[in-house]
Amino acid sequence: MATLGLRPHDSGFPHRHLLGIEGLSADQISFLLDLSESYVALSRSEQKKTDLLRGRTVINLFFESSTRTRTSFELAGKRLGADVINMSVAWSSIKKGETLIDTAMTLNAMHPDVLVVRHPDSGAVKLLSEKVNGAIINAGDGSHEHPTQALLDALTIRRRKGRLAGLTVAICGDILHSRVARSNVHLLSTMGARVRLVAPPTLLPTAIERMGVEVFFDMRKALEGCDIVMMLRLQTERMHGSFVPSIREYFRFYGLDREKLSAAKDDALVMHPGPMNRGVEIDSELADDIDRSLIREQVEMGVAVRMACLDVLTRSLRRNEPPGDST
Ligand code: NCD
Repeated sequence: MATLGLRPHDSGFPHRHLLGIEGLSADQISFLLDLSESYVALSRSEQKKTDLLRGRTVINLFFESSTRTRTSFELAGKRLGADVINMSVAWSSIKKGETLIDTAMTLNAMHPDVLVVRHPDSGAVKLLSEKVNGAIINAGDGSHEHPTQALLDALTIRRRKGRLAGLTVAICGDILHSRVARSNVHLLSTMGARVRLVAPPTLLPTAIERMGVEVFFDMRKALEGCDIVMMLRLQTERMHGSFVPSIREYFRFYGLDREKLSAAKDDALVMHPGPMNRGVEIDSELADDIDRSLIREQVEMGVAVRMACLDVLTRSLRRNEPPGDST
């Protein structure tokens, strides 16, 4: 039966799955970012395809809606020469737990080499990784982690600022429900950046300071001296009850506009993982300002990072090596 994995001495990435950023070392993160750089170059060339993953099968299994993550995993797999299958499961039809495992076992019987999984429940992707033979990539599990988003954010920042260490990054908005924030906090802290979180008290997890971040409720104070301002969407689909008084009020205090951005460094850059709600968490004109906004570049980096992840998680299989670390 096909199992994937790398032994620690084989490469800079010893894990069998990519379930989160937590637990990855700075060297492993740098290794993935360096490899992604080569895929940026390939994706910008006329001939965008290699046959590295020829004969391999990648299944995208999405229990939640997605535009850029699913499309970029599909493109990444195809550019590496793999066969890519997309399975979207309407979230209303999920019977939690039982259906997830049943679906996973059905797909497992078809011998996929990599399963890319998005699920509304935190921890569901890890559970699945214990049941299948192929490598699992977490494409977002509930409000837990979204590792490839943090990697593509880091690649985007590193290319523009030349480094991650020593930068001050403010992550603003709905931190409570955000897997993007959590993965970014792990990654940026591991790489030596300073992380500030800014949100209304209702949208901050309790005891978040334990993650080694600074917490602010005042956006202007939070943005003072920042190199990067990362905005997050209000994730109403995960909210049970009312977390903000009104959208107008939210934008007034926590929406990013030029006036608030002026508190950051003169060369501060703006990011957003998408999908964005213009006029809710970010001013529309600022989002489109190519001198300040990295939003489109983030999308481009997403394909390169996902190619790098598919590459490393299938390396030992391509060399017919036994599985490594099962994490
Ligand atoms: C994010 C997600 O799904 O967690 N989007 C993405 O992957 N680009 C953020 C969000 O949905 O707001």
